[in-house]
Amino acid sequence: MKAYLKRILNTYRVSKEISKHKDYKTIFDLGKTYIKDSFHVEGQSKTKKETAKSPKRFDVINYLLDTFSRDTNYLEIGVRYPEHNFNKIKANKKYSVDPGFENETNPVDFKLTSDIFFNKLSKSEVLSNDIKFDVIFIDGLHLAEQVEKDIENALKFIKEDGYIVLHDCNPPTFFHASELYEYRLSPALGNWNGTTWKAFYKYRLQENLYSCCIDTDWGIGIISKTKRIGDFSTVKNPYFEYEIFNKNRKESLNLISFKDLKRSLSK
Ligand SMILES: C[S@@+](CC[C@H](N)C(=O)[O-])C[C@H]1O[C@@H](n2cnc3c(N)ncnc32)[C@H](O)[C@@H]1O
Repeated sequence: MKAYLKRILNTYRVSKEISKHKDYKTIFDLGKTYIKDSFHVEGQSKTKKETAKSPKRFDVINYLLDTFSRDTNYLEIGVRYPEHNFNKIKANKKYSVDPGFENETNPVDFKLTSDIFFNKLSKSEVLSNDIKFDVIFIDGLHLAEQVEKDIENALKFIKEDGYIVLHDCNPPTFFHASELYEYRLSPALGNWNGTTWKAFYKYRLQENLYSCCIDTDWGIGIISKTKRIGDFSTVKNPYFEYEIFNKNRKESLNLISFKDLKRSLSK
């Protein structure tokens, strides 16, 4: 029982102080109801399944960088803890951008939002505006409008044969795809993919770009101007509804395995 209680408290990040509260029993029963609720059960099981998947984002990014037989430039938008991804990336030159909203220490090259960074970059106020990257990894603010801007800016600074990579394109449930980062009593258990999928899907509709999404690590979206990694989407979802996306998930994202990606790039 003690372990069960601890799980509820941890899962929902409820203050331990609550266990001394006079309504503790009611809160405990409420917790039990949440744990048994079918949306919560589905949320938990899909979260578990997703986190068990491999390869991880750094494996996919390193594979893409390794396809180039030249020195490579890498840019990461949204870093948080460098040891989770940035430090594992093997490129000749690496640059990191993060305003430090989630990690105060924030050891990055440019402590800026992506909008400010790209604005300064276009004026050569940070780096030179003729720089082009082999891979740009977009993993900053996970709201569709921001991700769309990040993709638009990344397209200006990516090499013709480079790759724009996006984390969190494949939210397993509606709750993972919430616009609200703060709401914790959700079946997504604090895992947040946000509405990144909408921005990725919007670019998947562009006939002049190639794209796919690797079915691992919450969905690794990849966009290329010239590499034939997947044709544009013909799925109609004009209001970007989650349920329409969910029913047409494979086609909306061009959801493929890492093996499929390797196969298409070795042709
Ligand atoms: C999900 S974390 C990044 C995780 C990291 N890329 C990884 O793979 O482990 C998101 C980061 O984006 C940052 N962020 C939030 N808004 C941003 C913005 N407008 N521009 C750039 N980064 C932003 C946050 O400070 C946070 O550190």
